[in-house]
Amino acid sequence: MKLVTLDTCKSGIELSEELKREAMAANALLHAGTGAGNDFLGWVNLPSSIDKAQIDAINECAASLRAKADVVICIGIGGSYLGAKAVLDAMTNSFELFRAKHDNPIVLFAGQNISEDYLAELLDAVKGLSIATIVISKSGTTTEPAIAFRIIKEEIERRYGKEEAKSRIVAVTDKARGALKTLATDEGYATFVIPDNVGGRFSVLTPVGLLPLAVGGVDIEAMVEGAKAMEEATAEDVAFEDNISAQYAAVRNALYRNGKKIEILGSYEPKLQNINEWWKQLYGESEGKDGKGIFPASVTLTADLHSMGQYIQDGERSLFETIISVATPAHTVVVESDSANLDGLNFLAGKRMHEINKMAELGVQLAHVDGGVPNMRIEIESINERTIGALLYFFEKACGISGYMLGVNPFNQPGVEAYKKNMFALLDKPGYEEESKAIKARL
Ligand code: PA5
Repeated sequence: MKLVTLDTCKSGIELSEELKREAMAANALLHAGTGAGNDFLGWVNLPSSIDKAQIDAINECAASLRAKADVVICIGIGGSYLGAKAVLDAMTNSFELFRAKHDNPIVLFAGQNISEDYLAELLDAVKGLSIATIVISKSGTTTEPAIAFRIIKEEIERRYGKEEAKSRIVAVTDKARGALKTLATDEGYATFVIPDNVGGRFSVLTPVGLLPLAVGGVDIEAMVEGAKAMEEATAEDVAFEDNISAQYAAVRNALYRNGKKIEILGSYEPKLQNINEWWKQLYGESEGKDGKGIFPASVTLTADLHSMGQYIQDGERSLFETIISVATPAHTVVVESDSANLDGLNFLAGKRMHEINKMAELGVQLAHVDGGVPNMRIEIESINERTIGALLYFFEKACGISGYMLGVNPFNQPGVEAYKKNMFALLDKPGYEEESKAIKARL
């Protein structure tokens, strides 16, 4: 994997020696474990700490779900959802649902919203198909997944009886605390533990991500290997010139300090779209606090050139872009010659679509740089378990460094409580009587 920053994105913004030192100091702080939020640094050395026994235990549980179910419904939200969704989409055929035969169970997601229609349609879709569920919640008390789990658990118990249901439900949660842990112990579900020192948005390489991915047929061992290689490549003793997480963090902060407040992550491979969503949570929740933070936005290209392209080229100049660039696609499709040539595209005849996609990428990059949008490029050779594992860890490490450079605690999320308080007050949750009265008076 390579990070191309084009002389700080040809923006005229210098990457000072001081800024490089800041990035290296922030990286050292992550390794020393003495910075803000240091009780949530378990992800820093996580890839190298995952042993064969842990991988085997996850694969074994995944195999038993795979043997039982056509569809595994994975319940969770935020950090307990986005990583698995992102990697699964990246690693799966885009049209898997339409293929006549599936090599792996279909993994569907629930509990990432409270939409009645979503859950009703999901349950309708799995009628006649064998189902199992993985319920994931670190706190074990998050409302959205708890509601979905209540309904899906009921469906599984109704279909298979309480005894069989136990082998179709797996919980991934805290080792000791929370309602889900209590329920899992009482009911005798298989459980996996989310380490105390790994926060939700940094948890994709724990069973939170690895179990659903193993169910979906992803080689989790290779993914962890990829992450481990990146852990080594971005370690404390790796010089700034070689440390791409430190470089990415430094460039982002240089741009931010020069008025670039919005970062757009994009790719020309639509199956990476949910990597963008995972990244948005990682950076949004980690950096957006204390009145500070780069706003993480995303595009899928070339589709969004026909919607957001105008703004990016020509709107307010507060943007910069980071493109995940894939060197080699998995398939080959060649544009053929057409005798009528009514569309005028015969000049492309014989070219692979990928060559055209690459020229679009290059053309857009130059146009956006010309338009005052600094561009970075993260180059990966192809989309596979190793590169995706490396990419995830690269972003996590850079996020920790960048958050410290920004001067925030990247590992808390005090801002997500406000909506919950209001929602519980509006729903008359016991214990919220005062808040209930106050909020209803505002309506
Ligand atoms: O990053 C985070 O900590 C959050 O986004 C959580 O992952 C999310 O709120 C889900 O929490 P839980 O796993 O406790 O249900």
